[in-house]
Amino acid sequence: QQVEAEVVTFSVPSYACQRRTTLENHNTVLTDALSLLAENAELSDEDGRGVAFRRAAAVLRSLPEPVTDMKQLRGLPCLGDHSLRVIKDILEDGASREFESTKQSERFKALKVLTGIFGVGSRTADRWIREGIHTLQQLRDSGQSLNRAQQAGLEHYDDLNRPLTAAEAEAVGEIVERAVVSVLPGAQITLTGGFRRGKLTGHDVDFLITHPDEGREEGLMSKVVSWLESQGFLLYQKTTRNSYLESKDGPARPPANMDRFERCFSIFKLTMEERRGTEQPENGERNPNPAEDTLSVGARSGSQTDENTPPQSQVPADERRHRVSGEDGGQEEAKPAAHKPWRAVRVDLVVSPISQFAFALLGWTGSKLFERELRRWAGHEKAMSLSSHALYDNTQVNTSQSVFRHFIAALSFCSVKIL
Ligand code: CTP
Ligand code: MN
Ligand code: MN
Ligand code: MN
Repeated sequence: QQVEAEVVTFSVPSYACQRRTTLENHNTVLTDALSLLAENAELSDEDGRGVAFRRAAAVLRSLPEPVTDMKQLRGLPCLGDHSLRVIKDILEDGASREFESTKQSERFKALKVLTGIFGVGSRTADRWIREGIHTLQQLRDSGQSLNRAQQAGLEHYDDLNRPLTAAEAEAVGEIVERAVVSVLPGAQITLTGGFRRGKLTGHDVDFLITHPDEGREEGLMSKVVSWLESQGFLLYQKTTRNSYLESKDGPARPPANMDRFERCFSIFKLTMEERRGTEQPENGERNPNPAEDTLSVGARSGSQTDENTPPQSQVPADERRHRVSGEDGGQEEAKPAAHKPWRAVRVDLVVSPISQFAFALLGWTGSKLFERELRRWAGHEKAMSLSSHALYDNTQVNTSQSVFRHFIAALSFCSVKIL
């Protein structure tokens, strides 16, 4: 009788925020499968199942070597029956039937394509799919009414679905910096989101803006947006004002998973010149009046960008279709993208008062799962409520500042740098 080969087992803390996870992943086949199933669940409005798959994928991503045997998974946290079944199928049969069939399914493919449009969420995509719309061309031909965000999203679809490089993020950062120092000298901008975490590519660029003197940041966003607009840098923007103080349950206890900072979801026009610093593009081509290309912004007070609000459109179908196919009458579409001397880039700007800056920076650095886990850990293990605005000791009143010092110490568990 043979002695059973020794199996490496791993020891992993239960909360993602307690683990050091590098960009190196030894289990990509497993994590790709679980991530796709998570995405499918999220796109199908099954958030609970989505989180379960995300947590399982994150555990496997943190392991120091490839998993080859189910026995290695004994005692690992966050691996539910469903995730274990998927892992087992891949380890033992080389493939997961559920993963393969989900990936190939017409519904999943259509959800991916349609929610790939900026401004389109899972509910809108689901409605369109039920009306037989599965592709961008079918959407264009359908005469569906699109809100302003969705029009911009469709128009710049290819650019917005092409990953951004760190160099492009840096170029955007220089533009935002110029805007901010022009309208409020002394204001500070900080790169957040995936690029702050050291990711090499991203779907957008995120910035947090503040001023060292409390209160000076008020009114800053509209000035920054006006400056960017006047320089022709904005293809689209929607600003939401700060609602922290006026909300009925704030400032006492903001909900854990959303913040109320003044923010701007935007699409930048990044020219080749900006991407290469001050260098001129080879063909020397330059639009003498870049502002002419920008969409009109802010004129329609009732314009909607939110997935939650139903789109409204009084525009006749014919005109709508014209607008949907682009303001250039379709000529732009015929040109290969490589010859276009600029690209559209999604940019998120957030303004925080300095007193909430640390929380805002922590909250906007991500990842989404990390933030969720950090808040869960704070609540369940430390009896504290963490948001992007504040940290409360649930057993005390009005102690957010002192509590934060404790929390910084506790964060040594986590691979978080605050400042
Ligand atoms: N965030 C938030 N509220 C939002 C949107 C984002 O608090 N309405 C925070 C989340 O913590 C998120 C971070 O901002 O992790 C960055 O969001 P996002 O840009 O969507 O994700 P990234 O991690 O930057 O990844 P990507 O490269 O896809 O942009
Ligand atoms: Mn981002
Ligand atoms: Mn993202
Ligand atoms: Mn973002």
